[in-house]
Amino acid sequence: MDAKTPGARYPTEDRIGALEELLNERYSVRAFQPREVPRDTIEHILTTAQRTASWCNSQPWEVLIVSGEAKERFRKAIYAEASRGLGDDYDFTPPREYVGVYLDRRRESGFQLYNTLGIARGDKAAYAKQALENYNFFGAPHIAVIHTNEPLGIYGAIDCGGYVSNFMLAAQALGLGTIPQAAIARHSGLIRRHFNLPDDRRVVCGISFGYADHAHKVNSYRTSRATVANTVTFVDV
Ligand SMILES: Cc1cc2nc3c(=O)[nH]c(=O)nc-3n(C[C@H](O)[C@H](O)[C@H](O)COP(=O)(O)O)c2cc1C
Repeated sequence: MDAKTPGARYPTEDRIGALEELLNERYSVRAFQPREVPRDTIEHILTTAQRTASWCNSQPWEVLIVSGEAKERFRKAIYAEASRGLGDDYDFTPPREYVGVYLDRRRESGFQLYNTLGIARGDKAAYAKQALENYNFFGAPHIAVIHTNEPLGIYGAIDCGGYVSNFMLAAQALGLGTIPQAAIARHSGLIRRHFNLPDDRRVVCGISFGYADHAHKVNSYRTSRATVANTVTFVDV
């Protein structure tokens, strides 16, 4: 007899199986079909992600779902700023440096992307061109802009990180693709001005989302993960 959590709709093996399937299936989608996601599907994602845990249950995420003409206006504004070489206008301090194993992982995933696209190692102009695709939202019909409350500091951003994960998993379960994008946070001032956000809001990241273009080669590779043994220390005695 399978163990079942009291009150649960599904047996344990189905519950963990579904979660593992979603986590294993999800990847960062960098090419989307243009067709829009129905509003009730977007609302289903939002309702699901709203259950995210947060420090003191502050729930500090606020979200703009930008679609249609509004998305096009935003895309043009942020693309223009990024393509002029402007940026580094982060609300949260970005990584200072990737060292050791973190640099290795960064390089591995970067080369996977560039190799898949046929971009030669060291071709900085091609790297920059591909990076600019962040500001076309990789062709996604929607982008969620996640912002938080300044006095909460870094923990407000951590709570938003949990929200972003849950948003992506809910979207995956509903047949959509997503990509989290810190790239848009390089332009936090522009975002605050563009959307008339109050001065105390801080931009964490975006999530471009929609239906993945499964035929596009950029969506054909999967990143690796370190093992649990490389990550976790059990402390018993
Ligand atoms: C907070 C966060 C910000 C990210 N920002 C970007 C980004 O700006 N542009 C991008 O192409 N990918 C971005 N990514 C995607 C990561 O590169 C990706 O999650 C990682 O390489 C693992 O690959 P996977 O998502 O396909 O499993 C971001 C991921 C996270 C979690």
